[in-house]
Amino acid sequence: MSAALSSTSPISCQLNGARVTFPPDPSARLSSALRGLGLTGTKVGCDAGDCGACTVLLDGAPICACLCSTAQAEGRDVRTIEGLTATNPAAVQLQAAFLRHGAAQCGFCTPGMIVAATALLERNSRPTEAEVSDAIGGVLCRCTGYRKIVAAILDVPATAFDGPQPPSGTAIGARIARLDGRRKVTGADSYGDDGAPADALVLKVVRSPHHRAAFAFGDIGAFLTAHPGLIAVLMAPDVTGVNRFGVIAPFADQPVFAERETRFKGEAVAAIVGEAEAMAALDLSAFPVAWTELRPALSPDEARAMGASRLHESRPDNVLVRGRVARGDVEAGLAAAAVRAEGLFETGFVEHAPIEPEAGWARRVGDRIEIHACTQAPYMDRDDVAAILGIAPEAVRIVPTAVGGGFGTKLDLSVQPFLALAAWRLGRPVRMTYSRRESIMTTTKRHPARIRMRAGAASDGRLLALDVEAEFNTGAYASWGPTVANRVPVHASGPYLVPNYRARSVAVHTHVVPAGAFRGFGVPQAAVAQEQIYDELAAALGMDALDFRILNALGPDDPTVTGQILGPGTGIRACFEALRPAWTRARAEAAAFNRGRAANGHLRRGVGIAGMWYGCGNTSMSNPSTMRIGITHDGRIVLHQGAVDIGQGSNTIIPQIAADALGVPLGALDLAPPDTDLTPDAGKTSASRQTVVSGKATELACRALRAAILRMANAGSDATIRPAPGELRVDEAGHRRLIRLADLPLDERGYAISAEETFDPPTTPLDEDGQGHPYAVYGFGAHLAEIEVDLALGTVKVLHVTAAHDVGRAINPTLLEGQIEGGIAQGLGLALMEEFHPGRGENLHDYLIPTVGDVPPITTILIEDPNPVGPSGAKGIGEQALIPTAPAILNAIHHATGTRIRRVPATPDRVLAAIREAHLAADPSPPGEGESAPADRGGVLPGWGCPHPGSTLRVDSPSPIGRDRDRTDQGQRP
Ligand code: FES
Repeated sequence: MSAALSSTSPISCQLNGARVTFPPDPSARLSSALRGLGLTGTKVGCDAGDCGACTVLLDGAPICACLCSTAQAEGRDVRTIEGLTATNPAAVQLQAAFLRHGAAQCGFCTPGMIVAATALLERNSRPTEAEVSDAIGGVLCRCTGYRKIVAAILDVPATAFDGPQPPSGTAIGARIARLDGRRKVTGADSYGDDGAPADALVLKVVRSPHHRAAFAFGDIGAFLTAHPGLIAVLMAPDVTGVNRFGVIAPFADQPVFAERETRFKGEAVAAIVGEAEAMAALDLSAFPVAWTELRPALSPDEARAMGASRLHESRPDNVLVRGRVARGDVEAGLAAAAVRAEGLFETGFVEHAPIEPEAGWARRVGDRIEIHACTQAPYMDRDDVAAILGIAPEAVRIVPTAVGGGFGTKLDLSVQPFLALAAWRLGRPVRMTYSRRESIMTTTKRHPARIRMRAGAASDGRLLALDVEAEFNTGAYASWGPTVANRVPVHASGPYLVPNYRARSVAVHTHVVPAGAFRGFGVPQAAVAQEQIYDELAAALGMDALDFRILNALGPDDPTVTGQILGPGTGIRACFEALRPAWTRARAEAAAFNRGRAANGHLRRGVGIAGMWYGCGNTSMSNPSTMRIGITHDGRIVLHQGAVDIGQGSNTIIPQIAADALGVPLGALDLAPPDTDLTPDAGKTSASRQTVVSGKATELACRALRAAILRMANAGSDATIRPAPGELRVDEAGHRRLIRLADLPLDERGYAISAEETFDPPTTPLDEDGQGHPYAVYGFGAHLAEIEVDLALGTVKVLHVTAAHDVGRAINPTLLEGQIEGGIAQGLGLALMEEFHPGRGENLHDYLIPTVGDVPPITTILIEDPNPVGPSGAKGIGEQALIPTAPAILNAIHHATGTRIRRVPATPDRVLAAIREAHLAADPSPPGEGESAPADRGGVLPGWGCPHPGSTLRVDSPSPIGRDRDRTDQGQRP
């Protein structure tokens, strides 16, 4: 801080080329001051310097604005994304390159990335990839997997900004730049914290500091009196409707405010609302509440042992729900097997860590409430908020803001009920933004799993039987626990023909944050177990792991474990076959590397493979989506696109489908974005359903509109439709017919011509053995991971991933690749570094997600085996992309070391312990020529020594350089 400044001195600096003065608060964060001036392109993800979303240039150097006080900016030059967009050629070229490469998904990290990259390019116009990684090493991205960001920066100078638009009828399959990308790369997109009215009150929540506690409030009136500027305190009695919400209605069990007792650390008991200045000064610890800590059950074992002490009165043994699928005779299949394998596998809580914390604002408009917030499920939010307020759903308007990543966690309510209650009662706009700690502490997590599997195969390699028992820690409230418990038994076989199968699952309540939806709904955890067990079967048979999978891969005429024949579009075998060249090369290269042990010291390389399948949409439940398209009197074609784009690309893919189905150029479409007052219900953005379900509804609606237009013009199906101001031109065989739109009466939707269609994928209920057709469309994929293990440190470095995915039809290959790369990055985190411990590490410094330094080069192979249900045969990709990464990495670790990691993440302590256990750590000898895997020979290499008990392994001095290296090492630290 400048010594000359006092707390009353005005603070001024040069901001984007103009002199500005900040209020006289020398300790104010620069990030807050900038946003207070309307420069909301500077995003705030953590307020702790961990995420880099708030990166700005201070005298040309990139800094985290959240760690810089306004006093430190006194007299200096500050440039933000807005200033760079206006004046800096390198920044503008970066924005073009980001668009062309698909380097922005949700876009929340994008301004920070572009600012950091601009600083690099200003001093080095031709950086190397290593220099690029170093420059953006302090900026986290949770969506992209960084590869396209690096490629974009290396591609500067770029050419066209958005790229050319495809001609009419060719939008599907084109690598179109994200249609909403320009506002993401310029920082103009408006997220949950960006758009609140200036006079909005601020809301903060009082939360339980204990896993389980009774509580009693003190004198609330005195508290309000003692704090001028505070307006109200809300508690359970202030809930005007039902003090319960939940994403699956029959299981709805979570109170807005706890009553009498809290069930997890961070649970809300009250909300304080006040003027912004008073709330900024408020010390929440002054709130009058007395806590009595109670004995919690933190694990399923503890919860089941609690007996009558239930978290929810109606759920004996604290069991939320059980799932089951059975087919054939699993015991007979195991008895007949030539080889058998079994094991217990465990995974922990995983935090979604979207870089945008939950945020939004609400206002009362007459007898209606309007909520602007980040969400994946606007209509579900609408219905839940209506029930909480005790008003009709039609009296609630949900306007989703841009969403800075979700991955499942923004399917559940977060800020919405608090905002709605406060704005409804006070009649003033109210805003709220979760702190990073609040976000990590209270939002849903990936379910920790304990999965036991037994599997058997015949001597010719064919799978005979698989027995699965899966237990999930579902936390204090139901959230998506029932979905996970029901989806896992359907998927735990993997994409293979398993004639004898039994899978049982149970979700158990504990006193921890609710576990919910996270990219895969439990399937990634099951794949960690199943793909490793199958590798063990292959090894026991002496079979190549890829050959084993191809032999057993589901074909179009094979029954799944639920008895469903999938028919055309069963592309798993093609995915595995596509990996064979990489498999052959990588195994040979690993063997060659490992032969050079003298040169490589403790390093060993391994190659692993894993497959996946995933049913798109809800499991055996109605799953509809409705899309509307209309043409105005002046000739605008408006697509009411209600599928929320959380970065996955529905704002681009849905219009691509629409343009081709209607037969007009993509550029002719205007988008009406998600808004429960303006767009019909497209369902939630989850379960890889939007491309399939909403895409199909779009295709149907646009075809219906096209048919109506052609009927009106008395034209045949091959006619061409050309929109023009005030008219449609329909050309056929050299003849043109004009439809003058102003001559048509407006229909009930307010358009000259319009169409609306609903699509609900055909499924059937599952019987008591789980037999039936749970999904209409499955996606398939397989990953190959090449890794390097340091046998002395236990660290694992992923060198390369090759991913083959059957996407049915690639609507937009660039966006598909982005989804796959982002999924791989999250799968890598699941495998190697991510584990949330309730009550600890509630920040992005202790809870580590992959940085640019952790994600290896990725080769993506898109397989197109069309499914007859999806639009143009397309399948989903969002969940699919993550599922096989972790088991492929774990199989590669086994290939490199001969040890099996049964609890993820495979942190160095766990890897090292496994290596020691297998007597492989000291003076290891590499595999010989043609010896592909230690595992193939029982997990012990000839000549590998065994360290003396308690001996100290030599560590070749690691030399962390910079923050990026530090993070990577920490990510691999227990
Ligand atoms: Fe980077 Fe979403 S695009 S966080």
